[in-house]
Amino acid sequence: MTSQPRAVVQTPPLECLNVPRGVSDCACKALEPTFPLSRDPSVVGRKKQLAALSSSEVSIREASVVPQDGRRMKDLQVECSPIVVRSVHDNVSTISERLVLLAEIDGVHVGFCVSFPGPQDSDPLFIQIVAVAPNAQRRGVGLTLLTKAAEREPLRDIALATQKINVAAREMNGKFANSIGASLQQVNLGTYRDSDLGIQRGMGYRSWVIQRLPVEP
Ligand SMILES: CC(C)(COP(=O)(O)OP(=O)(O)OC[C@H]1O[C@@H](n2cnc3c(N)ncnc32)[C@H](O)[C@@H]1OP(=O)(O)O)[C@@H](O)C(=O)NCCC(=O)NCCS
Repeated sequence: MTSQPRAVVQTPPLECLNVPRGVSDCACKALEPTFPLSRDPSVVGRKKQLAALSSSEVSIREASVVPQDGRRMKDLQVECSPIVVRSVHDNVSTISERLVLLAEIDGVHVGFCVSFPGPQDSDPLFIQIVAVAPNAQRRGVGLTLLTKAAEREPLRDIALATQKINVAAREMNGKFANSIGASLQQVNLGTYRDSDLGIQRGMGYRSWVIQRLPVEP
């Protein structure tokens, strides 16, 4: 994981076309962290919370279309390289268009997952992002996020992509496939649209499908 490309920090777009109804752009901008991050009080406070996480179980909830959850996603994007860091506003747009699940331990956000079903019934569930804060990794949070996202679409196959060098993600996906009695099968890039997988070409991605077993009559 150490040699992965650095996350790309994006500045908020000057003009946002997908402003979710009822969410003000100003409210989103007000929640952007201040730089340097080491002096942003909310970032400093969060570091302390993450360092003091208990062994309590993780809980999963659906993100709401509010700036605060957009900021929670941003906190995690900053912490979880190589996930792309987006503006709070863009994250709120994502929440309004996709299923975003937030994982929390002791009320602290420790992970998130972005997924959506393709438009046709025969399309898979696309899982675009799973990210878990380093302090909360290797305790089943990523697997729980995948499981909860998949439960929303029990009849669909599941499509996702991982970078070749991302051993953790590939191993997690394989373990998840096993947990539902299936296997992770590599498919050609181009089987699914890059935008559905949430990837860019030339970044070493591999594309995978997990085929659901037919439901017994
Ligand atoms: C990939 C990621 C989401 C895994 O989250 P996690 O909560 O630590 O995963 P889990 O604890 O549920 O692990 C499930 C299984 O995945 C595998 N796994 C997870 N992290 C691993 C690692 N660093 N190395 C090898 N295998 C790993 C293991 O098989 C693990 O089971 P085990 O702990 O019983 O051995 C996390 O490392 C992360 O956020 N990475 C940065 C962002 C990213 O790359 N996301 C994926 C692409 S969108």
